[in-house]
Amino acid sequence: MIIRLDQMIKVTSSALDIVEGELLGVKRDHGKRIACLAAAAGRRLNMPEETLRSLSVCALFHDSALTEYILAHEDGAKESDKRLHCEYGQRNADNLLGEGAAPGFVLYHHERADGKGLFGKKAGEFPQAAEIISACDLIDLQSLLSDPAEKPGIIAFIKECSGTVFTEPVCSALLSAIDGGCLELLTDGKLDETTDALFPEWPVEADRSIVFRFAALISYIIDCKSPFTKRHSQQIANKAWLMGGFYNYERDERALLYLAAAFHDIGKLGTPNSILDKPGALTPEEFKIIQAHSALTEELLSRVDGFEKITLWACSHHEKLNGKGYHNGLTEERMDFNSRLLACLDIYQAVSEERPYHPARAHEDTMPILYDMAKKGLIDADISRGLDEALAEYSLRDVPPPERTTE
Ligand SMILES: [Fe+2]
Ligand SMILES: [Fe+2]
Ligand SMILES: [Fe+2]
Ligand SMILES: [Fe+2]
Repeated sequence: MIIRLDQMIKVTSSALDIVEGELLGVKRDHGKRIACLAAAAGRRLNMPEETLRSLSVCALFHDSALTEYILAHEDGAKESDKRLHCEYGQRNADNLLGEGAAPGFVLYHHERADGKGLFGKKAGEFPQAAEIISACDLIDLQSLLSDPAEKPGIIAFIKECSGTVFTEPVCSALLSAIDGGCLELLTDGKLDETTDALFPEWPVEADRSIVFRFAALISYIIDCKSPFTKRHSQQIANKAWLMGGFYNYERDERALLYLAAAFHDIGKLGTPNSILDKPGALTPEEFKIIQAHSALTEELLSRVDGFEKITLWACSHHEKLNGKGYHNGLTEERMDFNSRLLACLDIYQAVSEERPYHPARAHEDTMPILYDMAKKGLIDADISRGLDEALAEYSLRDVPPPERTTE
């Protein structure tokens, strides 16, 4: 089974762009605009194709650690230590692309040629790819890259930075890209197509380790959105992999189920934290906004070729057999086995993990709640028994991630 990793990366960056819009107030599609301009500049600097691919991915994911960084603040990290998000972000890039594929590209994405960046590195002491991302980020943070009328302002800004804030070669490449029509491409309403053109297709087998590493990273980013769900998606993914083994799935189907579990709450990246983290009861309006997350999961995942089953399983995790779930109101007949399995796993995880309104529950305290729901015709009784058998030994313990996968 072939997965389009390039499309998975773009979908995830779309979700990250939504978070960045919410948390930093930057205009939607920040990551994509930066990636497109960075790639255009990198091409003009004759970067090799491999470096260009790493540059594009790092530009899209330059703030992939945003949710983790914000969570670290809540755990007591200093507001001033913005370098943390660079370090976490570089670790994410290394995990995804492999150690050494993009050295320092994300770590130094806030450096300036004059040494006034977060780590105080000067021109020549950090990679040119990082400098390109830094320059594009600075330009876009002034919202200059989303309006074609800003062209004279952008050109003046880059010229002003040349030889001081950024090096002359990087500024020349950026000027040439802007002159060469890049700004028009970023503002013509077809940014998705432009981003598509950036990436060569990247088809990989679903069970390759790069796919697993990427899925684990995504579930981690999703979990970091709220302190209440620190391990939720990661644990559902690991438990889905375990259940795939329990039911003797073929390796391909097991991998697809793992991916669906890792991605199931990606739509939560679009739910405002003011609602996700609200300690009291939700108003009907707020509940509606929460419910929209599975529809956003469906919308995002359906953009990936070959993800048809994954999309169905992932976006059906709040459906109920009696048709009273959300967001498609599926009934028993329309919920296949893996959709039911993910729905059960989501409930098992939510009930057993610590939440502000209940402590962590042991397996024997979790299962009666599932059996009760099965009795009421909400979830699958056979699958509940399967979970009871397979998960008992992990009571109050994390299920480990999938065993080492094929390189
Ligand atoms: Fe940043
Ligand atoms: Fe940024
Ligand atoms: Fe959910
Ligand atoms: Fe969930």
